[in-house]
Amino acid sequence: MKKISLEVNGVQENQEVEVGTTLLRFLRDTLDLTGTKEGCNEGECGSCVVLLDGRPVNSCLVLAVEADGAKVTTIEGLSPDGVLHPIQKAFLAHTSIQCGFCTPGMVVTAAALLKECPDPSEDEIRKALAGNLCRCTGYRQIVDAIRDAAAAMRTKEAVREKVSA
Ligand code: FES
Ligand code: FES
Repeated sequence: MKKISLEVNGVQENQEVEVGTTLLRFLRDTLDLTGTKEGCNEGECGSCVVLLDGRPVNSCLVLAVEADGAKVTTIEGLSPDGVLHPIQKAFLAHTSIQCGFCTPGMVVTAAALLKECPDPSEDEIRKALAGNLCRCTGYRQIVDAIRDAAAAMRTKEAVREKVSA
């Protein structure tokens, strides 16, 4: 067992974990953050994506001990107080969700993309989602949702800048 300290969705966590525990299992089993999904468990599907110090990672490939000292954001952390993130709203508006299993990973990956690149082209969105598999939607609605969310977030940012100017 090893003691780890990390920030998860803004909350400081100090826990003891088995050295071989993945970050995915730690989030789901120890912290009960079950929004992050376990699909392939071998880095192929992207359903387990979380942000590790702002970078999207497959949490099934990261050991919890490797996240010691880091800041982790899960899908739950994108909608604090139950207010949906603009990407989640756009997914609903575009019916980008069918079974929903891929959705948390898609949304977290998209959030990382839009932070880096607020106005991505379709190609950039598809490239960012290359590691996120969806068996249901055919991706069209997902890409459209991310483009709309990007536009909504840029508008919100512009308004915020105007108000604070
Ligand atoms: S469960 Fe991690 S990539 Fe599939
Ligand atoms: S909505 Fe079912 S896997 Fe994407």
